[in-house]
This record gives sequence, C-alpha cells and structure tokens, in this order.
Amino acid sequence: MAKTIPYLKQSVAWVTDLIHKYRYNLFYKTTTHVILLQVALTLLTILVFWWAIGYAQQSIIDSISNRIAEIASGAATSTQSLPETIDEVRENTLGYTFIILTALSAFFGLLISRFALWPTRNSLQFQKRFIGNVAHEIRTPMAIIKTNTEVELMDPKLSPSVRETLKETIVEVDRMSETINNLLTFDKLMRPGRMELISTDLGSVIETVIDHHRSLAKSRGITLNIENNLNPRVLGNAVALDQVITNLVKNAVNYTPANAGGSVTVTLEPASGKRVSLTVSDTGIGIAQNDLYHIFEPFYRGDTSRARGIGTGSSGLGLAIVNEIIRLHGGTITIRSAVGQGTTFKITLPMAPETQAQIEARDAEGVHELSVDFSQ
Ligand SMILES: Nc1ncnc2c1ncn2[C@@H]1O[C@H](COP(=O)(O)OP(=O)(O)OP(=O)(O)O)[C@@H](O)[C@H]1O
Ligand SMILES: [Mg+2]
Repeated sequence: MAKTIPYLKQSVAWVTDLIHKYRYNLFYKTTTHVILLQVALTLLTILVFWWAIGYAQQSIIDSISNRIAEIASGAATSTQSLPETIDEVRENTLGYTFIILTALSAFFGLLISRFALWPTRNSLQFQKRFIGNVAHEIRTPMAIIKTNTEVELMDPKLSPSVRETLKETIVEVDRMSETINNLLTFDKLMRPGRMELISTDLGSVIETVIDHHRSLAKSRGITLNIENNLNPRVLGNAVALDQVITNLVKNAVNYTPANAGGSVTVTLEPASGKRVSLTVSDTGIGIAQNDLYHIFEPFYRGDTSRARGIGTGSSGLGLAIVNEIIRLHGGTITIRSAVGQGTTFKITLPMAPETQAQIEARDAEGVHELSVDFSQ
C-alpha cells in the first residue's frame, strides 16, 4: 500500500497537468481533439467491418438454409446456383462497406481539418485585428505631432538648424502616416465583402496619381510620362486603383537613381479578352531574381543595401496591397526586371461592360465593317 501511494500521486499530478494544458493551450487542445477524432474513426471502421462480416455470414447462412429447405420440399425455385448466390452476397457486402467507409473518411477528414486549422485561423484573426487596432490608435497622435510641428515652423524666430530639424520631423511623420495608412488598408482588404467594383475611368485615376508625383519625380531628376490613347473604363474601385498606381509609381520613382537621366512611363493599352493593360516601367535599379519571388509578401523589402540612398524609408507593404487589390479585381500582374536596367510592372484588368448609352454613341459614330474570309 505504501508503495502504491507515490504512483497514485504521480498519476494524479500527470492528469492534472494534462487537464491544465488542455484548458489553456490551444494547440494542445487541438491535438487532443484530432487524436480523439482519429480514435473515433478507427472505432467506427472496426464497427463497419464487424457489421460487414456479420452481414456476409448471415446472408450466406440464409441462402444455404433456403436452398436446403427448397431441396427438402422438392420445390426448387431459385434460378441461381449456390456459388453464384455467395458471390453476389460478397459483392454486395464489399460495395456497402466501400460506400460507408468512404463517407466516414470524408466526414472525419472535414472535421479533422476544421479542428486542426482552428488555432491558426484564430491567431491570424487576432493578428489582423491587433495590427488594425494599433494602426488606428497611432494615427491620431501622428496627426497631432504633424500639426504642432507645422505650427512651430511658422515662428519666424526659429534658428535655421531647428527649422531644418522640424522639417525633417514632418517628412518622417508623413512617412510613418503612410505606413499606417498602408497597414489600415491591408487590414481592411483582408475583411470579407470589402470592395465594390463599378465602371471606373482608369485614365483619370492615372492622371491624378501622376500629378501627385510630379514634384517628387522632379526633385529626383526623373521624367514622368503617360501613354494613353485608350481612355478605358474598367470594372474597379477608383480609390483602390489609385492606391495600386500610387504604389507602383512611387516605387518606380524611388528605386530609380536620382539625377541620372532616369524615366518612368505609365502606359494604357488594350489587352486580349476584353481587358485593359496598365504598364508602369522604370529605368531604375531593377529587382534581383531572389527578391522577385518574395516582393508580394507583406513587410518584404528588397536588398536594402542596393536601395540605400535611393528609396525613402519603406515598410514593404506597398506591393502586398497592390497584389491583394488586383486579386480582388480579378486582374493579373506580370513583372519583368533586370538588375541595373529597370523594372516593368504590367497589370491587366477586366473592362467594364458597355452601357446602353455607350453602345448607342458608338453606333452613331458612323460606318461599321465586318468581313468574313472563307478562302482558307
Ligand atoms: N520598381 C522597382 N524597382 C526596383 N525594386 C523594386 C521596385 N518595386 C519594388 N521593388 C522592391 O520590392 C520591395 C517591395 O516593394 P514594396 O512596395 O512592397 O515595399 P517598399 O517599397 O519597400 O515599402 P512601402 O511601399 O510599403 O513603402 C522593395 O523593398 C524593393 O526592394
Ligand atoms: Mg513601395
């Protein structure tokens, strides 16, 4: 008795520890659920086999006794021989077993994957909510810092060095605000049902973005060009598309060396399959092949040593947002880049369906032509 007490105490300690882990550790809890589901599946499989063997045995015994009864009464009515009847029973049993086991495996597969992915889904949701909340909380103090600094700058008695410091503070605050806005957009895009797609004038969105970037490009000695003979309407969201083009143009300008005769060109062209192609190409530093595989990942930044002194400080969220917005538009993205020579981002977007007024306006334009060639 004295010997069993320590074992008993040890067992109780283990059980308490297990219960504690089960209650407070999400991954432990999930593992336990998955193991229990697997055990349940195994038990049910054994039950199915148990039933199948019993069913086959009983059916065969019934067939044999029926046949003996028929022979004894002298009124043989069966058209099948006994081996044929037994074969039929075997096939039926195999068929039923197969159907029941497949249904059970599919059902348990679904349950197990749901249970196994539950903690991951939970922590992803928590992470997104956390990022969104933090970004939201930081936005207001940033705006206050910027306003206060701007007010300070109005003081004519400021020494040149203090003025310079305050100006730098505003640049940094602007940069931080942009990162926070990117974070908030990313958070918003990740929520379901977040974007309404309507007929949008892509040309005017591009012009607005280019106008906003003229002074940045000028300060870096880079020429900005637009090539648009199309004026297309795409099925999209103007605010989101503005963000896409802003990110691409800003990257193109920032990752092109300053005052070295660089240029950035935005082109709009028709593409196959009722789509519009938007190209942003630059003559900048280019993207190494290894970086290309990762640039759409949130917070990924390319080889910063190459970019040092060329780009402004960055968060690595720009292209992740571009990628998500284009995905929500049902678009495509292709990148061509050569280190030291430049990069071209090509996006295609679906055109907006023509309205009745547009169709009538086109019809009123004049002669239309169709030719059919059967000579081949
Ligand atoms: N046009 C480009 N030329 C060269 N490198 C580029 C270009 N566009 C993107 N990159 C590389 O891809 C990386 C990811 O770009 P992304 O826009 O996502 O982030 P970022 O510019 O570093 O930061 P953010 O846009 O959030 O301020 C960049 O760090 C840069 O190395
Ligand atoms: Mg960027």
